[in-house]
Amino acid sequence: MLGPFTGYCYIRAMNPSGPATGHPLDSLIAAADRALRALAAPARATRPYPAAAEETPEGRASREESAALMRVNHAGEVAAQALYHGQALVAASPATREFMLRAAREEADHLGWCEQRLRELGARPSLLNPFWYAGSFAIGALAAACGDRISLGFVAETERQVEGHLDEHLQRLPAADARSRAVVAAMRADEIGHGAAARAAGACELAAPVRLLMRGTARLMTGTARWL
Ligand SMILES: [Fe+2]
Ligand SMILES: [Fe+2]
Repeated sequence: MLGPFTGYCYIRAMNPSGPATGHPLDSLIAAADRALRALAAPARATRPYPAAAEETPEGRASREESAALMRVNHAGEVAAQALYHGQALVAASPATREFMLRAAREEADHLGWCEQRLRELGARPSLLNPFWYAGSFAIGALAAACGDRISLGFVAETERQVEGHLDEHLQRLPAADARSRAVVAAMRADEIGHGAAARAAGACELAAPVRLLMRGTARLMTGTARWL
């Protein structure tokens, strides 16, 4: 027979997006549900796929480099989901929690677009996505535990670094691959918006060693996801 605790878990697990009951387990089960959706369910973008240009023979010829770069971008978007989910779970104020969850929903478009582009290129996502998710979730939760202003500062700095990374990809993507370029350009515009929104919401500037550590961590991920 189900005990009340098991019964509660079962009911919430069956309907994790249902109305919150205020039970402390609510947020944990919702976080587990978000993780599973980010990792295991096909990403569903709510905005149209930005790549309007047709695939060209020249674009097809440069698939290998495009696939490697789009795999890195896809892994980055998995990490972005995890950072925002971790930050939402530990956020001090409901306003900051909602800010993080809204940003994660917008990032889900990026995840869907990268997933679609990888499919078009006949390439697979990073095998280490669960690892990127787990690590980034922990980093996001840690940033949030330092307070909402630091957590927002973490968003502003992450988005600044992602913008630089996408600039670099726009230079490295084959000129003929207009479809990947359109996806990266659309994401870049959004990331700039996310950074500006975090600053407007009260983000504080992070210390230089923290920024450096974030850069190093991101480099580890982008360097590995290219191959794995
Ligand atoms: Fe993104
Ligand atoms: Fe973003």
